[in-house]
Amino acid sequence: MKSASLLLASLLTTGILLAQEATPASTPLTAKQEGVKYIKLLGGRLKGKLQKEMKADKTALGAVAFCAKEAEALTKEVNAKLPTYATVRRTALKLRNPQANGADALDIEVMKGYEESIANKSFSPKDIRVVEHEGVTRVYKPLLAKPVCLLCHGSKISPAIQAEITKHYPQDKAVDFAENSLRGVIVAEIAKH
Ligand code: HEC
Repeated sequence: MKSASLLLASLLTTGILLAQEATPASTPLTAKQEGVKYIKLLGGRLKGKLQKEMKADKTALGAVAFCAKEAEALTKEVNAKLPTYATVRRTALKLRNPQANGADALDIEVMKGYEESIANKSFSPKDIRVVEHEGVTRVYKPLLAKPVCLLCHGSKISPAIQAEITKHYPQDKAVDFAENSLRGVIVAEIAKH
């Protein structure tokens, strides 16, 4: 009898715990969680498009044209879907498209922090940094230069791709990245609301 009620009690508590876990919809997201959600949205859309373009055209020339013409438009499209208090964008210390992706002082400070942690080997790609700035919560996710990125951001860019990049971005600075160095960040900004 005693063990039966113990069992019942433990079943009930498990049930309660499970029920709590299964109802995140009622708990509002923290600014960090919301930022990460928008970062994944932009990152996922850009990555999906890039992969599709690279598959369709193995030379990656089409993908350069895609990035040049559509990355900006796609970023605007994603932002149009967000609540009015939120934005998401990419930036970097060395820029290809400074008009669209410029960094401010705080972006630069956070990115230098990531570079430091890469240099002293304490870096983790999951190192999301959250900074409160003028009533806005900024959420940063680091982007590393992976082998595929080096096709267009490395030090051995094919002449055809280089020509295409120079055509669109004569002032390009986003080259000569080493594998696994910091290519840039995605930043979500969540204003108080
Ligand atoms: C096919 C060529 C190509 C490949 C591959 C590529 N990029 Fe780019 N990247 C571009 C072009 C062109 C731009 C400028 C247009 C834009 O996206 O705003 C750019 C811009 C960026 C920016 C915005 C900052 C800036 O310099 O303006 C980041 C961050 C970035 N790329 C990261 C990456 C990462 C990370 C990878 C690998 C996952 C990658 N790129 C792969 C061509 C490429």
